[in-house]
Amino acid sequence: MKTKNEAGYYAIGIFRGKTHHNLGTLWRSAYVLGAQYIFTVENKYKKQTSDVVRAWSRIPLFHYPTFDDLLENIPYDCRLVGVELDENAEWLHEFEHPKRAIYLLGAEDSGLPDYVKEKCHILIRLPGNSSLNVGVTGGIVMHDRATKVPTIFPPNHKEM
Ligand SMILES: C[S@@+](CC[C@H](N)C(=O)[O-])C[C@H]1O[C@@H](n2cnc3c(N)ncnc32)[C@H](O)[C@@H]1O
Repeated sequence: MKTKNEAGYYAIGIFRGKTHHNLGTLWRSAYVLGAQYIFTVENKYKKQTSDVVRAWSRIPLFHYPTFDDLLENIPYDCRLVGVELDENAEWLHEFEHPKRAIYLLGAEDSGLPDYVKEKCHILIRLPGNSSLNVGVTGGIVMHDRATKVPTIFPPNHKEM
């Protein structure tokens, strides 16, 4: 089993997220599945009942007014992983998660625009004949990371 330091860390956020219920669901999953912080880009978050654990009170919630602000504040040696149904993206189930990663999801209506995808270090996608809900997508990505990098769980969890 890797030590926590070897496992690294991750954050997850949404670019221009529209539906606050989806954000609340995502934040709740992020806290439960071991994200170190959560963020929004170009759209602020208002408290939601779907975030029953009040994730923002337990892990930092950042807001980046623009995509450039996000880019300028990527931590040292951390990969920006765009999550999008894009033909050039890697399949999630074959993906080896970077030790230090920021996962970026797209808006419910328009997804990640090309100029954002071009700036991502890596793109990943999930299978399916059409788009999934953005909160569901984030939950699946975090679960995939949790099963491949199991040390993100606190010590009282059973070893996987
Ligand atoms: C509802 S989808 C956006 C759909 C948008 N109408 C489009 O076709 O671009 C919202 C976000 O969920 C994520 N998503 C949904 N399905 C996905 C999939 N199969 N693979 C990767 N990301 C997905 C992406 O981050 C996407 O930007």
